[in-house]
Amino acid sequence: MAEKKFRVHFAPHDLETYAAGGTNLLEAARAAGVPIHASCGGVGVCGTCKVRIEKGQVESSRTRVLSEAEYDQGVRQACQTQILSDVDVFVPIESRLEQAVLAREKKQAAGIAPIGWRFKPPVSKLYLELPAPTIDDNTSDLSRLLREIRSSSTHGNLQVDFAVIRKLPEACRRDNWKVTVTLLTLSKDFNPGSGAEARIVDVEPGDTRAVNYALAIDVGTTTVCAQLLDLNRGEIAADNIVFNKQISYGADVISRIAYSQKPGGLLKLQREAVASINEVLAKLLDQSQIGRKDIALATLAGNTTMTQLLLGVNPKYVRLAPYTPALNFVPLLQASSLGIQVPESVYLVTFPAVSSYVGGDIVSGVIPAGFYQRNKLTFYMDIGTNGEIVIGNCDWMVTASCSAGPAFEGGGIKFGMVAVNGAIQDFEIDQLTLEPIIDTIGGEKPKGICGSGLINAIAGLLETGVIGQNGKFEAGLATDRVRRGEDGYEYVIAWAADTQIGKDIVLTEVDIDNLIRAKAAMYAGCHTLARSVGVQCRDFDHIILAGNFGNSVDIEKAITIGLLPDVPREKFIFIGNGSLSGARLAAFSSDLLEDALKVGRMMTNIELSDNLDFNHNYVAALFLPHTETEAFPSVKEKMDRLALSRRKGGT
Ligand code: FES
Repeated sequence: MAEKKFRVHFAPHDLETYAAGGTNLLEAARAAGVPIHASCGGVGVCGTCKVRIEKGQVESSRTRVLSEAEYDQGVRQACQTQILSDVDVFVPIESRLEQAVLAREKKQAAGIAPIGWRFKPPVSKLYLELPAPTIDDNTSDLSRLLREIRSSSTHGNLQVDFAVIRKLPEACRRDNWKVTVTLLTLSKDFNPGSGAEARIVDVEPGDTRAVNYALAIDVGTTTVCAQLLDLNRGEIAADNIVFNKQISYGADVISRIAYSQKPGGLLKLQREAVASINEVLAKLLDQSQIGRKDIALATLAGNTTMTQLLLGVNPKYVRLAPYTPALNFVPLLQASSLGIQVPESVYLVTFPAVSSYVGGDIVSGVIPAGFYQRNKLTFYMDIGTNGEIVIGNCDWMVTASCSAGPAFEGGGIKFGMVAVNGAIQDFEIDQLTLEPIIDTIGGEKPKGICGSGLINAIAGLLETGVIGQNGKFEAGLATDRVRRGEDGYEYVIAWAADTQIGKDIVLTEVDIDNLIRAKAAMYAGCHTLARSVGVQCRDFDHIILAGNFGNSVDIEKAITIGLLPDVPREKFIFIGNGSLSGARLAAFSSDLLEDALKVGRMMTNIELSDNLDFNHNYVAALFLPHTETEAFPSVKEKMDRLALSRRKGGT
């Protein structure tokens, strides 16, 4: 006789499941698809899984994390509770996992975050105890599985991967007809033509619900960042970064595209991208001790060229007018089909691109920034080898890309380097002696200078009058730090004896010129895009800076050189790697994944490469901070004050 099952109803979600007597309530909640916060993993010591039993019988004794008053009111720890009858359970707001995840994401996003989303990963696990076949009920394994899924969940119309059918006979019998199925539930936009509500992507013997992980990936031109996400707890289980192995084929997307046109080039770059993902994945697994087989989903955001290269799709036309990407929307595909070392059952969900130079990384970054849901006029900027800009709010969004070149990531700078240990990241200069004070990443002796160090160095040299507003060194300064080198005049930031490389680290006029061009492209891009929609920089409620570089930039110094607009400083918000945050959020919530599609459709791309207004603004910005000094009033006031004090001091 079939074992009696009790109905367990969860409010306010209005979800239910059927569970045998003695079933743990936290497990029943998971089976019903109710995400309950359980930060100690069910050991019983954290008290984050508290629920109120409204009706029915349970077995649960009071522990020290429950007060007597709570216990009297029917509050219980879900993880310490066994079901004895039909029960009605209320999950208070503080125990709902989405609240915990949302609070963390809000903190990470520095006070801004998307609103109104549920913690509802696109992949979920469903544990089933199938009735064993008999001579009277010898229907197929697949029919038996589907029958049980339909009777114990709300899933009706299901699609089944063929790989699941291959695994099914053994999976059913290995643990006496107890199996866990993994379901991928995405909207029809991701699964066109299937008509199914969900796809069964895996079947495993026994109960594997305790392990359910996703891999979130940001494929950047310079680095590949990734996180392993615990989909049961809504937490980051591991976080790591590696260089994109394509870097040895060129620092920016244009040189990668050029390489991809050589015989065998595209395949080589595709393999390098996959190898980079596999390298960061190996680090994540090692760091977290999570099994590769426990990964159930991968989400990926990257710029258009990186995405096409990863897919092995020729990016040739990305860089040729009229600049068309091969595709905006990447259909669902198995990550292993690209060579990513995850189980065959893992699907890769890729963020849509808007244009050749505004890719899925920007669409993804807009999600954690949350301004697509608010009416505040927001300016979003991701500064890297390519600068991408989005302006808009909940009603409209325009976007553009400007090629800043690799200077902000150390490219094209004599002693430039990416922001890793040994890179000079901060620079101050003594007003009187013109001696530098430097700070390096990791506190090591310097090896070179990264983007933030460059900006700070140029701002410092400008403020002390070592260089003029045209970026050229002034003559007759009382310091041996300024000298004539092999590339013209230069400033010695660190003497050879104080470095790791045994050479003087210098900043040359050519370097300064390269950085001025990069910042002029960024500023002109912002200004042109703003003017194209009839607004000015001072009209923005928020200016959101994304990207690794954006995270380390000194706002004051960036305004001094004219990279960022001179607006009240409290308008600036840093969100770090927005692209990776968006990939993470999409793995936590199918609501936000749907939002990403909406954001991609909302964005109107404005091409700047042949735009006369952009060219005019670019030339005007080839000065420190700008040829129109009135656009930078606080910088003008500071420069006038410093010049006066130098004159008074006779320096
Ligand atoms: S999960 Fe920690 S007490 Fe229940």
